[in-house]
Amino acid sequence: MQNNKNIEVKSIFNKVSRNYDFLNSLLSLGLHKYWKKKLVDLLKPVDGENWADLCCGTGDLSFLLLKKVRPNGTVTGVDSAEEILNIARNKSKLIGNKCIAWEMQDIFEIDKNSKNYDGICMSYGLRNLVNIEEGLQKVFSLLNDQGRAGFLDFNHSKLNSIADRFQKIYLKLVVVPTSKIFKLSKEYAYIEKSIKNFPEGNKLMLIAKRIGFKKVEYRTIFFNQMGILILEK
Ligand SMILES: C[S@@+](CC[C@H](N)C(=O)[O-])C[C@H]1O[C@@H](n2cnc3c(N)ncnc32)[C@H](O)[C@@H]1O
Repeated sequence: MQNNKNIEVKSIFNKVSRNYDFLNSLLSLGLHKYWKKKLVDLLKPVDGENWADLCCGTGDLSFLLLKKVRPNGTVTGVDSAEEILNIARNKSKLIGNKCIAWEMQDIFEIDKNSKNYDGICMSYGLRNLVNIEEGLQKVFSLLNDQGRAGFLDFNHSKLNSIADRFQKIYLKLVVVPTSKIFKLSKEYAYIEKSIKNFPEGNKLMLIAKRIGFKKVEYRTIFFNQMGILILEK
């Protein structure tokens, strides 16, 4: 079952990769860039630190992180879908950037003894993992003792709240029909299903506490449409 979800997710992101950045900007009216910047600002990465952008996709967070940790820090972008990761690699080449290490790997397969990050972040990745709790455990294990982590994703609002209704209507009437123009409606219809299975913010905080994170904070942004989870060991 979990393996099926893994295969489904990988195939979705390989398929959408060519149009991913364009559709993200179009469907969020460019706001996703602002939300990602907000996540990175909240985490306060500084020069000399070593950070990972897990489920990096086309690498937006990796590029933002690099600006904060250079010249002495490192950034690693990890994604399991080759085609979307190749877009990140090509963007890097275009701007002559050799500082980000791009790794094609399932995050669950990263050896926990091989890494000791100061920080980890993820945007729109947690919801797509086969097992969210195991994903947070993996992040915990890859951080050093003072490590911190941040996650940006859709907020799973209370059923039938205004935010919940708006989200569903926007996905059904704007996101899916727009993606249909690119023959990607099936792939984008997956977002609604994935939000339904994604824990609400307070549940995410409980899971993180159970795993052992000492500081746990969840805030919603953009009229409760998006959520940011901040964790510290
Ligand atoms: C919605 S995209 C987000 C990409 C990027 N972080 C962004 O915000 O634009 C989710 C990404 O998670 C990746 N992903 C999902 N499960 C993964 C896993 N177990 N290991 C590595 N990458 C994974 C997918 O391949 C996809 O590129």
